[in-house]
Amino acid sequence: MPTALIVLAAGRGTRMNSDLPKVLHRIADAPLVVHAINSGAAIEPEKVIIVAGHGFEDVQKTVLEYYPDAIVVKQEDQKGTGHAVLQAKMALSDFDGDAVVVFGDTPFVRPETIQKMIDMRKGGDAISILGFEAKDPSPFGRLVMAGDTLEKIVESKDASDTEKQISLCNGGLVAANAPQLFDLLSQVDDNNASGEIYLTSIVDIAATKGLTTGVVRCDEAETMGINTRADLAHAQTVFQKDKRAAMLENGVYMANADSIFFSFDTEIGRDAIIEPYVVFGPSVTIETGATIRAFSHLEGCHVARGASVGPYARLRPGAELNENVKVGNFVEVKNAVLDEGAKVSHLSYIGDAHIGRETNVGAGTITCNYDGFMKHRTEIGENAFIGSNTMLVAPVTIGNQAMTATGSVINSDVPDGALAIARGRQVNKNGLAIKLFSKLRNLKEKRVAEKK
Ligand code: UD1
Ligand code: CA
Repeated sequence: MPTALIVLAAGRGTRMNSDLPKVLHRIADAPLVVHAINSGAAIEPEKVIIVAGHGFEDVQKTVLEYYPDAIVVKQEDQKGTGHAVLQAKMALSDFDGDAVVVFGDTPFVRPETIQKMIDMRKGGDAISILGFEAKDPSPFGRLVMAGDTLEKIVESKDASDTEKQISLCNGGLVAANAPQLFDLLSQVDDNNASGEIYLTSIVDIAATKGLTTGVVRCDEAETMGINTRADLAHAQTVFQKDKRAAMLENGVYMANADSIFFSFDTEIGRDAIIEPYVVFGPSVTIETGATIRAFSHLEGCHVARGASVGPYARLRPGAELNENVKVGNFVEVKNAVLDEGAKVSHLSYIGDAHIGRETNVGAGTITCNYDGFMKHRTEIGENAFIGSNTMLVAPVTIGNQAMTATGSVINSDVPDGALAIARGRQVNKNGLAIKLFSKLRNLKEKRVAEKK
């Protein structure tokens, strides 16, 4: 059976105290709304519909960067969660599968939990709701149970004193057959304490039609919604803690896991070693047995088996390190492929380049890739030797087994097997240093005497 995901993301998020729409605030480099969509991705939705309102254009643009096939619909006025879901009706007019509603500001729902909601639907319940035992139930809708089935959900503002005693709360997520969901919502009114069209009102309407609602229970931590900067900061901590635990579980070696920061999509193979204080930006994959040494910063890059990076290295987007490559301290690599066994050990900038296998790049070497207007490429062959402090003025090609002399400024191609020397020739003037020392010493003594 096909599924659809509806993500509610129209709210302003006043309490974030920010110009940025709430769902675009980031945890581990990904916007909240993207975390929410990722959670739902486990059910392989045929359609993903985002209901946006505040900051519509920005939300739409960001969502489409991550999910180009998503449909972003507009909720002009925020008249409640039920009203928000109704905005997805047009986009799902020809769709007859199950729809799962998630909140764009609730990033930690586990994919397995959403799958359980779909499974519960298969078990015969018309609606499946996510519930949790709340430590402090006061902000949440309460689940009024009749045995195993849910009778209704009462929002806190509308709850009676006895209902307020209930600690089983609504996590916000709903799964139901899409046409039936829209049909039930069309019967919901705004006759409640907030004057809103509540999504939660479909439960008792369904009950009057003899349709049952089941509850999938999860841990409160999963349903944590982000409303304030403090919530966001806490969520960052929770995310890192979970990600570190998952990395350790997968066989990554980290002597000081708490000092390492991951991105939402960091992937690291078994037996890789990550030294303290490494920061991973988005889109990094590290293969089995690679070593990332302390204080390195990596984003948008791939590090293959047996490669070693850092300490204090910076890998920027498009850095591709093949097997057994070594990138040493204070080296920056951007948009460059380093073939097997290549070494750039100290203090270099390698950008828009390709370095052939087993080539050694000496300390202080720089690919001068930018002329102020355009970027140019540097090609270095295999088994080449680039002398320390070589300036490679791109576009330029260095052949296989070629060499450049230390301190050279290379601005034309070097053929295979050639040695390129491009620097001033050294001249020794015998005795001249001694003469110069004494001349300068006398000059200084004269000046000091004049001042007295
Ligand atoms: C909702 C539930 C409540 C549950 C709680 C869990 C309803 C009526 N109440 O309450 O039972 O315990 O979540 O956190 O569903 N949104 C829109 N458009 C709107 C209104 C909301 O897109 O018109 C979006 C918000 O941006 C947010 C989500 O829906 O992402 C939830 O809305 P919010 O106002 O936070 O609902 P709660 O009052 O917390
Ligand atoms: Ca909320």
